Amino acid sequence: MPKPLRDFLFGTTTPKKELTDALTPHRSFADVILPATTRRAIDNALTQIKKSDLIFHTWGLAERHESGLGLAFNFAGPPGTGKTICAEAIAFELGKRLLVVRYAEMESLWAGESGKNVAAVFRTARETDAVLFFDEADAIASRRFQSVTQGYQREANAVVNVLLKELEEFDGVVIFATNLASNFDPAFERRIRTHILFDMPDEEARAKIWQVQLHARKTPLAPDVDFNDLARKYVVAGGDIKNAVLKAAQMATTEPGPDAEKKIHQRHFVAGIEDVLSSKKVMEQSIFEGDGSSAPQLDPGMMAGISQAFDQLAQNDRSMGEDLRTFIEKTNVLEAQLAQFPQILNHFDEAQRVAREGLKSEIIAQLTSFHTQSQTDFARLDEQLRAENHTLGKRATMAIALGASLGGVALATAIGAILLALR
Ligand SMILES: Nc1ncnc2c1ncn2[C@@H]1O[C@H](COP(=O)(O)OP(=O)(O)OP(=O)(O)O)[C@@H](O)[C@H]1O
Ligand SMILES: [Mg+2]
Repeated sequence: MPKPLRDFLFGTTTPKKELTDALTPHRSFADVILPATTRRAIDNALTQIKKSDLIFHTWGLAERHESGLGLAFNFAGPPGTGKTICAEAIAFELGKRLLVVRYAEMESLWAGESGKNVAAVFRTARETDAVLFFDEADAIASRRFQSVTQGYQREANAVVNVLLKELEEFDGVVIFATNLASNFDPAFERRIRTHILFDMPDEEARAKIWQVQLHARKTPLAPDVDFNDLARKYVVAGGDIKNAVLKAAQMATTEPGPDAEKKIHQRHFVAGIEDVLSSKKVMEQSIFEGDGSSAPQLDPGMMAGISQAFDQLAQNDRSMGEDLRTFIEKTNVLEAQLAQFPQILNHFDEAQRVAREGLKSEIIAQLTSFHTQSQTDFARLDEQLRAENHTLGKRATMAIALGASLGGVALATAIGAILLALR
């Protein structure tokens, strides 16, 4: 659609921002240590991808089914458990590029454009035959707003709608990664073929993760290094181990002596992981600090308890998601019932109107009968009055006649008296 005002203000040749980063994968499954169940699920996913050509093209199922041919996977799990690195390893295994979506660029300044950007991202993936990767996918695939009152809600709903449509039509590989899977829109969840859970690594896996963070030949290790000991003592995710290794290496470089003789010792790894853990504590503590003026003193035991509680919360996340979904369904039923309320109120109004009309007619009938009765009574009274008036009239005439005769007598007497006096 032409946008003359935009073109006038900003010109028609605004530089086009890339919606995706196309990465050539370097890390493979040799770099990833996964719990057995996660590894099996990933292997299954890979088999599905590798055999999709056989199923859909050689066996002709693509000609029978027009949609739902894509291979959409969701990697869900706590931070630092290897979701992003696994997406890269899948692309590596398939010999394809990894197309990482850039959300900041997707959210368009122009209302209604974000949906188009989602469509453009899928188009690029199709054209370049790349593995499409939505990292931190809850940012885009979260639940749609039930009632839309703000522009941004309309935009967010439109984005999810476009995403659902594109997913339905896409016939390539798309991976979503999230640590907030319960925020996903249920319709979106249904379109994802396989959900893969990334758990925290166990002790054995942790020991191997320490190992794979180093270069097999080049990283100089002192003989005292014991990864089993570190794995036993520190229950952490792969992301924390990676950060600890980098810190340990940095510390080792600051030791005195020539670089060629420097080695990473166990104490460096211990200091590295302790540093990572205390940084995490600072982050956790900052949640409670508010403005920082009255930070409570939290002992390590208490922090461990809180951290355990958070882990428990994360585990319950999914079941809470289910509860929330039931709640939303119930709310929808309630909303439907509420929607019928105006109709019920109309019925009520109608009944009230009929009752009011009935009462009005009754009053009018009463008044009419009263009026008729009163008219009859008045007529009778009038007649009586008339009759009485008649009698009164007669009496008045007689009184006047009597008065006149008495007046005449008095006048004659007076004249007689005057005449007598004058004589
Ligand atoms: N299972 C693992 N095996 C080997 N290395 C791992 C593993 N998990 C994490 N790592 C290391 O930690 C780094 C961070 O992991 P990654 O980014 O894949 O975690 P993530 O699950 O995507 O985390 P987030 O949810 O924060 O995005 C990786 O680059 C890798 O070096
Ligand atoms: Mg990640």
